[in-house]
Parts: sequence; structure tokens; C-alpha cells
Amino acid sequence: MFCKNIYLFTLFIFLFNFSAGELENNCRNENNEIDNSDLSILISPLMSSEMIREICIYWKNSNLESGDVFKLYKGNPNTTNAQVIFKFQPDAIHGFKKTGISSDFISTSQLTFKDECLNYYVSWVRNDTIKKTSCLSTHPNWMSKRKNSIGNLKMREVFIPGTHDSAAYNKFQNPKTELIIDKYTITQDEDVLGQLIYGARYLDIRVGRYPNSDEIFWGNHGPIRIVPLRDVIRDVKIFLDNTDEIVIFDIQEFPVGFQSLAAHYQLTNYLQEQFDGYYLDRPVHVWGTSLEDIWSTGRRLIISYDYSNVVASRASVWPQVEQQWGNVRTVSALYRHLNKIETQAADELHHYNRLSQPRAAMAQLTPTTFDVIFNRLGGLRKMAENVDINITEWYSDEWQHTANIVAVDFIKATGIVETAIKWNDKRASGC
Ligand SMILES: *[C@@H]1O[C@H](CO)[C@@H](O)[C@H](O)[C@H]1NC(C)=O
Ligand SMILES: *[C@@H]1O[C@H](CO)[C@@H](O)[C@H](O)[C@H]1NC(C)=O
Ligand SMILES: *[C@@H]1O[C@H](CO)[C@@H](O)[C@H](O)[C@H]1NC(C)=O
Repeated sequence: MFCKNIYLFTLFIFLFNFSAGELENNCRNENNEIDNSDLSILISPLMSSEMIREICIYWKNSNLESGDVFKLYKGNPNTTNAQVIFKFQPDAIHGFKKTGISSDFISTSQLTFKDECLNYYVSWVRNDTIKKTSCLSTHPNWMSKRKNSIGNLKMREVFIPGTHDSAAYNKFQNPKTELIIDKYTITQDEDVLGQLIYGARYLDIRVGRYPNSDEIFWGNHGPIRIVPLRDVIRDVKIFLDNTDEIVIFDIQEFPVGFQSLAAHYQLTNYLQEQFDGYYLDRPVHVWGTSLEDIWSTGRRLIISYDYSNVVASRASVWPQVEQQWGNVRTVSALYRHLNKIETQAADELHHYNRLSQPRAAMAQLTPTTFDVIFNRLGGLRKMAENVDINITEWYSDEWQHTANIVAVDFIKATGIVETAIKWNDKRASGC
């Protein structure tokens, strides 16, 4: 395509004096009203003694008419045994509805390596006719299915969903009141294999080292150890064994036990041994390597490492992804932070970036120490609920052209995976 990136796109506008609006409308017109409407099932990160995994419906649809209804089904509405479990008439073209219904617990071992719908469907219904249906879905193969359209790109040029503090998970089955410590350390409600199957390809891993414990390396959140690193590694290998996807395993911060260079070498040795046969040695062009070149090596794991002394001396690790932190406490401040980095990224598309280092927009609020001590923000779940809807909207409507990695808390509470997939396709077709 002649305008596959913003740079060429801008040049095109400049030369032919088109407005971006016109070109975008042309892109829109290719599709119809149905493709252009958003409808999705999100799972709330909130948990109380009565409720867990509350189903929420998100929509944005300028073609809604009065009398239109949204119906939530258990079972595929095309089949006779589908059951309507919730319905409502939207009162705006754009919104978010909590249903009060808790979705069933699905253990990771029940998930498959095929893209699938997980039993909950939502339909846009007019006069008893379904106009559009979406489901709660997994995306274990989204990248490899698009080898033809994204293969020639570098990691920096792809819209990649990721998780923040990926190893800080706890997969609760039943509702429960969380302890204050959990409220401020747990960022994910799927284990790492689950996160990958739902669509994340960027993992933000914080490692703690405990030389006197049985398990030396742990996935941490700050000073708190959450799960043995061994479990995280096992999940990544299971995923790679069963798919043709590429995963970035980004080791960031070293919150406990890394005072010496020897400690870092102990970790890299451990990773090399555990991931033997999986990881790709840093290539000559490093992050400038295209996805198809990565695929052609048969090694689909990139281990990146947030410490340049180690990168300089070990070929097994790549320089880290640039994490872009706002350290903000409110939704509007997060908007300003993300808007700043995405605007900057749009400007940088005009320049040749030799290093092509990917960047991760860290799309969450950050509590201060006093927020934690006085529980002022209600915990990470509450904070995630406040921003997750906005993130999806911002990245569908404002920053879809520049987005690179977007790392979120509680991945199923956002529509970031579907948004990334949709915009990778649109970008590939010149939009
Ligand atoms: C329902 O059936 C129609 C027609 O066969 C098909 O296009 C659509 O994808 C099906 N929807 C679901 C959710 O399976
Ligand atoms: C709804 O569908 C019925 C039967 O197909 C049709 O007779 C009626 O005119 C439709 N109503 C509207 C408002 O479109
Ligand atoms: C975030 O989303 C909510 C719900 O759609 C909306 O009311 C609010 O204005 C949004 N905030 C920002 C800063 O965009």
C-alpha cells in the first residue's frame, strides 16, 4: 500500500492537499455501519465479598435508533439453547453498562489454543433482528494469522497489547474481600498463560532474587514476591509450544536481591537454561529486525533486559522496552500523559529511528505511599476500573495510528486486545 505509515500518509496529504479527515472518511466508507460500531463484553476487575468477574457491556454506535436493544446471552444466539440473561435499551450512542451478573470461572486449563468465544455473547437487536454480535473471546493466534500484513514491520510499528506487572496475578475463583496488601500488589486476574491466550504479547516482568529460599527467583510487585519465576517461565513455554506467536519477555526493575553484577549473571544464566531453544539471540539490527525475520529463525521469544551492562555482555538478551510512565493519580492526568507520548510518537514517525526500540505506554494510575497507607484510591482494582474503559476509547479514537505497546492492568477489563487487532488490520490497509 502506498500509505502504510503515518509518514507516507502525511506526505500524501501534503502533496495532494487532502485533509486527513477526508482520507479517514474514505477508510470508514469502505466498511459499513456495523463494522464501525463497537460492542464488547468486558469483565470488571472489582471484587467484593458478593461479586467477582461482573460482566459489563461497552458500546459506541452512532447508528443506534430508539427501540434498539442490547441483549446479553449465555450461549451463541444463533443456537436454540442460547439464553438471554440481561437486556437493556441504550440511552446514548456511547456507554458502559454494568449488568450485575457474575461470569463463570474459567480455569486456564479450560482455555484452548484456538480463537474462541467463551459462552457470553452480546447482540445489538432491532425489531427482533440481530444486527451485530460480539462475544467474550480469546485471541491466541492473532499475530501469526497476520503474517502477511504485519510480517514486514518491526516491533515498534505494531500495536501490541501487553500487561503491566504481568507476574503480579492471582486468579480467584470465588468472591472474597481482599487484604490491603493484595489490593495494592495484584494487577492481573489471569495467570501468564491466560494473559497470553487472551491476547497479550508483551509481558512486564519484575524479578526479585532470594538466594536463601528454595525458589531463588520470583515475580515481584515492588518488594513483595508474588509467584515463583519458574511458573511464569513454564506458562510462556506452554504458550510458545502451542502457537506460532512472538512474545516479548521484558525484565524490568530488579526490586530485591540484585546489588551485584553477579546476581544479574545468575538470572541470565537461569533464563538461558530455562528458555533454551526458545529465545532468539539479539540480532545485528536488534529491534530493527522485522517480525518475519524473527519468525524465520524459529525462535519466538525475545528476552529484553533493563540493565545495559548485562545487555552489553550477553547476546541472549535485548535492550529493554522503553516504559513510558506517567506516575499519575487521576484519569485526566493519565490522559495528558498518554496524549503527550502519543503526540511525540506521531512526530517521531517523520524521523528515521535507527534503534527502533519499542515503547510501552504504561496505561494505569500509580498510587503514592500515602495512598496505599490510607487506602485513598480504593486499591488497584478500583483504580483500574476507573481507567480501563477510557484507555480503550482513547486508543480506538485518538491514538490508534501511533500506538505501539500498551500495557494495562486486568486485561479483560479493557478492550485493548480487540482494539489493537482491529487497528493493525486498518493500518495495514492504509487507514
Ligand atoms: C450467526 O450466523 C450467521 C449466519 O450463519 C453468521 O454470519 C454469524 O457469524 C453467526 N454468529 C455467531 C455469533 O456465531
Ligand atoms: C418489525 O418487523 C415486522 C415483521 O418483520 C415488520 O412487520 C415491522 O414493520 C417492523 N417494524 C419496524 C419498526 O421496522
Ligand atoms: C472516562 O470515561 C468516562 C465514561 O465513559 C467518561 O465519563 C469520562 O469523561 C472519561 N474521562 C476522560 C478524561 O476522558
